[in-house]
Amino acid sequence: MSRSNLRYHVQPGGQLQGRLRVPGDKSISHRAVMFGALAQGTTTVDGFLTGQDCLSTMKAFQSMGVVIEQTAATSLCIHGVGLHGLQAPAAALDLGNSGTSMRLMAGLMAGQRFDTTMVGDASLSKRPMLRIVDPLRSMGAQISTAENGTAPLHVHGGTALHGIDYRSPVASAQIKSSLLLAGLYAQGVTRVTEPGASRDHTERMLRAFGVTVECAPGVAAVQGGQRLRATPIEVPADISSAAFFMVGAAIQPGSELLLEAVGINPTRNGVIEILRRMGADIELLNPRLLGGEPIADIRVRGGALRGVDIDHELVTLAIDEMPVVFVAAACAEGETMVRDAAELRVKESDRIQAMCNGLQNLGVDAEPTADGACIRGGRFGSGKIDSLGDHRIAMSFAIAALRASGPIEILDCANVNTSFPGFVSLARLAGLSIEEVHAADVYTV
Ligand code: S3P
Repeated sequence: MSRSNLRYHVQPGGQLQGRLRVPGDKSISHRAVMFGALAQGTTTVDGFLTGQDCLSTMKAFQSMGVVIEQTAATSLCIHGVGLHGLQAPAAALDLGNSGTSMRLMAGLMAGQRFDTTMVGDASLSKRPMLRIVDPLRSMGAQISTAENGTAPLHVHGGTALHGIDYRSPVASAQIKSSLLLAGLYAQGVTRVTEPGASRDHTERMLRAFGVTVECAPGVAAVQGGQRLRATPIEVPADISSAAFFMVGAAIQPGSELLLEAVGINPTRNGVIEILRRMGADIELLNPRLLGGEPIADIRVRGGALRGVDIDHELVTLAIDEMPVVFVAAACAEGETMVRDAAELRVKESDRIQAMCNGLQNLGVDAEPTADGACIRGGRFGSGKIDSLGDHRIAMSFAIAALRASGPIEILDCANVNTSFPGFVSLARLAGLSIEEVHAADVYTV
């Protein structure tokens, strides 16, 4: 497997200070491109995340004939082609590291008249795809996968889809969204019921595009054949990126940070609740709505944290923030138990194992369990961490250095660019002593 030669060298200590605006929300940026492409008319997007994952989505639609102009650093103008206006791409769609692109687009591609092949990088090619392929097949889709249910996905177009009433075994916005997108092309109603409330950006944004989506707690449904009407989209700052700075400020007494215009959608705000339960000083200032999504400025002051129990509901609401929550737990007094978090094992890496291995390297008492971890907070030292090419593992350990007694070196960090371009300069601006080092050797394992 090829790995990047980008490493972070992070010096211990320091405090985080100032006002920061982290880049746009990844989930919302993906959906803005997809829905803008399928709409009738021109959609403008401001605050778009120019991370590699969202660029993969953008390139995929461009290769299907959608004209997308980048009108400013984080602004797009998408010339929608309508629900049936996509053209067959000349080659396979390469979705890089992005699970959201592949899973949501599988639903969408199932409704097209042409065939599509979707490929991804080594990490994406290991992630489970049957969770979307099986229910899509029961809607009539013809999709083939590699032998173990992974990418590449070959989607055969031109098949008639029909709505289903699907009970998902996992709370997953990617599953829900994939089926709802296929549902736009299906006869009848497509309904998805989940064992918990996953993020609802698809439902909110489809409504902004004029689609009727029926929602009840844990349930979302669409009637097929509805058209999307172009609409301007403003993307809030990503709470998943803000979370690194929230934890960084919370774990280090003397820190005080203001994170501007962060999305605080109630299906995404678990990290705020978890940190508050740990005793963190967090204030939400100036709450307001931005394009149908609730946002606020988040002020965090550093102080002492205590260990807590974190179970299914909070895990779902903080699924992408759990790696950095493990860092908060390592800095807290007492024990933090994470349960019902087996989904973390099928993200860009096995995040339970990656975080526990890394914390153990630093001398933290962190024990993985089948579906979570037990972390006993305390003092920890220096060490070398393998991020396994997982952006959130790399950024979590960069933040851990604030409380380490020696430097931390983090390997294979290039994928930070998938979700958080500019992380290193923003972190330096806030007070972290972090440097990027391009190791001379590009090595393979
Ligand atoms: C996402 C949903 C989540 C999340 C991912 C983005 C989305 O995955 O982990 O980073 O944009 O729909 P699951 O829905 O599979 O939990």
